[in-house]
Amino acid sequence: MTEPTTVKIEALTKADAVRCAELEAQLFAGDDPWPPAAFLHALDGKHNHYVAARDEGRLIGYAGISRLGRIPPYEYEVHTIGVDPAYQGRGIGRRLLDDLLHFASRGEVFLEVRTDNDAAINLYKSVGFATVGVRKRYYKVSGADAYTMKRDAT
Ligand SMILES: CC(C)(COP(=O)(O)OP(=O)(O)OC[C@H]1O[C@@H](n2cnc3c(N)ncnc32)[C@H](O)[C@@H]1OP(=O)(O)O)[C@@H](O)C(=O)NCCC(=O)NCCS
Repeated sequence: MTEPTTVKIEALTKADAVRCAELEAQLFAGDDPWPPAAFLHALDGKHNHYVAARDEGRLIGYAGISRLGRIPPYEYEVHTIGVDPAYQGRGIGRRLLDDLLHFASRGEVFLEVRTDNDAAINLYKSVGFATVGVRKRYYKVSGADAYTMKRDAT
């Protein structure tokens, strides 16, 4: 399906926290979805970069990354990425991830992903991430395992 041209990638703001939590509950049910307070906290982090995908003003996706370390070369960690199920498969997740990777340019990037999350794993592999380890029972509520994936500095 072609991507709707109206979808824009913009800064995520505190006014988005409730909608983000609503999407989280849909996308990560059973895996400790973030409440609004977690998004508000993340948006306060001065080394964090959070973006929104909006369709005519409505939030339909979000993503965030954190810069780690005080001096270069920095490492980065993808915190989260999610797209409203009604908008998945239209290139929006890729646009959100591209924005995070632009923020992380010249640094190594790490993330954790459920080992059964084929859509996300394919997306990450397509932009240069490789699996570097497995974290058993990483997801506390479901007990699911995670892969740690890493993208080398570009
Ligand atoms: C993972 C996620 C963000 C992808 O967003 P999306 O907008 O649907 O993805 P895109 O349309 O940009 O697709 C990008 C790539 O992802 C992969 N992908 C997306 N959906 C897929 C699916 N259902 N099966 C396999 N691969 C898939 C493909 O590699 C695709 O590239 P292609 O279109 O060139 O084949 C989305 O599926 C989502 O929100 N999932 C639930 C939340 C989640 O699991 N987040 C990741 C936590 S680590």
